[in-house]
Amino acid sequence: KRNINILGIETSCDDTGCAIINSNGKLLSEVCHSQNLMHLRNGGIIPDIAQDLHRTYIEPTVTKTLQDAKLTMEDIGAIAVTLKPGLPLSLVVGMKYAKHLGRRYNKPIIPIHHMQAHALVARMHHDIRFPFLVLLISGGHCLLAVVQDVDHFQLLGESMDSAPGEVFDKVARRMKLRNVPEYSQMCGGQAVETAASKATNPHMFKLPLPLSEYRDCNFSLNGLKTSVLFHLHKKEVEHKTVAHELIPEVNDLCAAMLMATTRHLVHRTQRAMEFCKENKLIPEERQQLVVSGGVACNNYIFSALQMLCNETCYDIYRPYPKLCTDNGVMIAWNGLEKWNKGLDITTDFSSLDIEASSPLGE
Ligand code: KG4
Ligand code: ZN
Repeated sequence: KRNINILGIETSCDDTGCAIINSNGKLLSEVCHSQNLMHLRNGGIIPDIAQDLHRTYIEPTVTKTLQDAKLTMEDIGAIAVTLKPGLPLSLVVGMKYAKHLGRRYNKPIIPIHHMQAHALVARMHHDIRFPFLVLLISGGHCLLAVVQDVDHFQLLGESMDSAPGEVFDKVARRMKLRNVPEYSQMCGGQAVETAASKATNPHMFKLPLPLSEYRDCNFSLNGLKTSVLFHLHKKEVEHKTVAHELIPEVNDLCAAMLMATTRHLVHRTQRAMEFCKENKLIPEERQQLVVSGGVACNNYIFSALQMLCNETCYDIYRPYPKLCTDNGVMIAWNGLEKWNKGLDITTDFSSLDIEASSPLGE
């Protein structure tokens, strides 16, 4: 097998990520430019601004990644780039830059599915074999799937409304958590997790368990979100809070929300495990659950899933926090996994295009 280096480029949302991995799966360098602070200031991601920032940072990010690895484009064997799913204005920046590099240096391109990359990157540092169960929880997605192979994902269920990270981000904003200096630089999920850890009476808020009557593997978080916002509003009225003031019970409400979300995620994952058993999708002697995506950084959610796995005899894995959130490493890694199997490698760049939404199973 020829030794090659794979350059990975990720621009599907608000992070400009780039990384280089060699044939042995060793990470040679990585650079990630996060737009988090800018979007925190704007109260959410504005696609035009995200695109402008990707345009500004894509070239310096790729250049720095090459420099850090002490390589030039001549040393790169193929370029892996996220083409779906994501924000169209963001995706297109990565695609165009990848095509530009591919043409200029005569390198093949490997198109990457962002969600598949989130799942597969767990194999970079752990001995995880196909098939395995994956729970992907992030700001844009919430899904359960069986990963049969590098290019074969079987979707078991997904969110019918919001993703957990999206709910954490929205509620955190509504709760004004950003006004607490300690949380001012954190994303919503992190702020909620930190506030929740300081709770004294989380049970004072009663929140529903979504879809408890359903035996499928789908998720729904909007009811929970509405319920949290209702409690928040009630307390704000009760305490007559003003503009920048937080409710005194904010830690308890964060804990209640985190616990309710966790209960739902665990409940659906348990259902997926039952489904896999009934349909013999996962061999009983090697049951593996991978948890990835930005929300997988949450230690409360991860411990609850660990407990579930103890009961069901699953081994649980999650990538390092930096690999759970969006990054270029997972794109380069997925590129390498595809390269090794000869999948989707192309020099016909006109055949490549972005797709805003793309189901995992297809
Ligand atoms: O995977 P990611 O970087 O981007 C998407 O593809 O969405 O995930 C970002 C999301 C944000 O919504 C953020 O609030 C959430 O992950 N997040 C967390 C934590 N850290 C990041 N949610 C809960 N607990 C955390 N510790
Ligand atoms: Zn992501």
